[in-house]
Amino acid sequence: MSEQVKRFIRVDHAGEYGAARIYAGQLAVLGRGVHAPVLQHMKDQEQVHLDTFASLIASRRVRPTVLLPLWSVAGFALGAVTAALGARAAMACTVAVEETIDEHYAAQEAELADDEAPLRATIATFRAEELEHRDIGLANEAELTPGYRVLTAVIKAGCKAAIRISERV
Ligand SMILES: [Fe+2]
Ligand SMILES: [Fe+2]
Repeated sequence: MSEQVKRFIRVDHAGEYGAARIYAGQLAVLGRGVHAPVLQHMKDQEQVHLDTFASLIASRRVRPTVLLPLWSVAGFALGAVTAALGARAAMACTVAVEETIDEHYAAQEAELADDEAPLRATIATFRAEELEHRDIGLANEAELTPGYRVLTAVIKAGCKAAIRISERV
């Protein structure tokens, strides 16, 4: 297995871990509100994504990122803080995160060759669900969040930094 594929599995595992923590943070704040079912739906899908990459980490003997404890805290905090700003801000967070992951997964799909077709198919399936999450955010008035552009730009920059760091350490 190439170093590139190891890097992909490491960063995807980290990202799905962070995503599950973001929705956990949002549910901690909005878990009794009208958005709870849709947040739970997204969290459940992130858990499947995370479990899948956790299996790949084990079966393919990839070292996970050492930063999982950081992504646990940062992901939960991002979810909880945006949710505390309101449901629209939570949805804006979802749009920003899921758009970033969509780009990230699309780039990986383009780089994986046929000898990694199963992994490529897994990523394609998950990417479709990330886009569903983005659409849920848009359908729930994400763009009506005050400061939507700045908020999403900041979150996207944070996600991209987290991706770069998790590929390496
Ligand atoms: Fe995911
Ligand atoms: Fe997602």
